[in-house]
Amino acid sequence: ASTLRSLAEAQNRYIGTELTGNMVNNATITSLAGTQFDMVTPGNEMKWDTTEPRNGSYNFGPGDNVVSFAQAHTMRVRGHNLVWHAQLPGWVNSLPRNQVQGAMEAHITTEVNHYKGKIYAWDVINEPFNEDGSLRQDAFTNAMGTGYLADAIRTAHNADPNAVLYINDYNIEGENAKSNGLYSLAQSLLSQGVPLGGIGLESHFIVGQVPSSMLANMQRFAALGLDVAITELDDRIQLPASSSSLQQQANDYATVVKDCLAVTRCPGVSQWGVGDADSWIPGTFPGYGAASMYDNNYQPKSAYNATATALGGP
Ligand code: G3I
Repeated sequence: ASTLRSLAEAQNRYIGTELTGNMVNNATITSLAGTQFDMVTPGNEMKWDTTEPRNGSYNFGPGDNVVSFAQAHTMRVRGHNLVWHAQLPGWVNSLPRNQVQGAMEAHITTEVNHYKGKIYAWDVINEPFNEDGSLRQDAFTNAMGTGYLADAIRTAHNADPNAVLYINDYNIEGENAKSNGLYSLAQSLLSQGVPLGGIGLESHFIVGQVPSSMLANMQRFAALGLDVAITELDDRIQLPASSSSLQQQANDYATVVKDCLAVTRCPGVSQWGVGDADSWIPGTFPGYGAASMYDNNYQPKSAYNATATALGGP
């Protein structure tokens, strides 16, 4: 039978999955990940609190493990992420303002250089926007204002000119105040010659609520000359999941995959986690779950079949 990755590759796209923590030691998960997917995003292993828990002291072991797994299965890696207000070690928030820029540049340079040549794309900036389209206030805006984005992207580019450099966020999949803010920012960065290469649409959806303006939104970013990737797809359902909600979920997955295929600059779709059992959803949204293509026993759901069909399979 055809696999998701063989179908995606025939379309010149990738199909990815997130792996984190003990997932790389679970044979059921790794065998599915390695056969069905051709892109990996480490869920936590490349975040600042893991890679530089103390100023100047780096820990790349957990991320290296994920990269080794990917390479052993001929999968590429999306690096996630370099600059984010969350999972940021306390020492960064405690720095005097005039030391934040130096710490950010050192962090980016050291991490990107460590993984140079092994990372297809970096989420350089993660989740920088408020829902109203303004920039979130955090250690980076406090120290550098809006300029931190350009500085971070340029710093990453200097360390690995071949990686595609992304801004990644949630609730920017359709046209709304937040994606409008990002669109203006992207235009401004590109006009300054900043080497921004892509926009990551996380795509943490609620079943039946994929925005109808998603395709148009992807097309407007692509028209700026940017890649537009689906980076963290899942589609949560109120538990227990009914058969009609699972069917709607299959339709949602198909819609997202078709939207990507309709946009030349969409390089691929990544799901957040492999199966329902390893999803972050039940822990964060109590009463919700069943958000992925595989059930709690790693059996393919209707969403899997719909994804395969949307990718051109039977
Ligand atoms: O490592 C500790 C462990 O020692 C401890 O026993 C355990 C008890 O709670 O916590 C472990 O840390 C957890 C960590 O994941 C590793 O498993 C944190 O509590 C938990 O908050 C953290 O959650 C991660 C979350 O980001 C944090 O923001 C999720 O795994 C990860 O899937 C999620 O990913 C984010 C993306 O980076 C950005 N977009 C949204 C997405 C979903 O929230």
